Amino acid sequence: MTRVLVLNGPNLGRLGVREPDVYGAASLADLTEAVRGWGAELGLEADVRQTDDEAELIGWLHEAVDARLPVVLNPAAFTHYSYALRDAAAQVTGAGLVLVEVHLSNPLAREAFRRHSAVGPVATGTIAGFGFESYHLALRAVAARLP
Ligand code: DQA
Repeated sequence: MTRVLVLNGPNLGRLGVREPDVYGAASLADLTEAVRGWGAELGLEADVRQTDDEAELIGWLHEAVDARLPVVLNPAAFTHYSYALRDAAAQVTGAGLVLVEVHLSNPLAREAFRRHSAVGPVATGTIAGFGFESYHLALRAVAARLP
């Protein structure tokens, strides 16, 4: 099985509690279970992680480069302003590895500040707006790109 890092940024540990009208009633534990199951069906071992810490998230992207692992990344609010995260994501795709940017909601349909992604231009592709299904679609994209 190919390992894939499924990385979640700030406040995603609060899924189920946080703005359920936007993000749904299910928790990060529910998302983790679903992602692991979808991964297994696709021949992927999903290593699902969440942090509120920008430095930790950047470190995980460095780990993906060094271990040559594909990445599914929900950068959460860092999406919109973190050039440090953008530079780390660029190292992943620059190394020839797949990095799929995912969002539960559709940021383009929300507040103006969410309409800009610093990560999108250096991602392999972006999937947004499908709730948990965004991650399933991202895993399918990773599986389809495996050598
Ligand atoms: C999000 C969208 C971001 O704008 C927001 O800051 C998040 C979650 C999403 O998955 O829809 O925290 O990345």
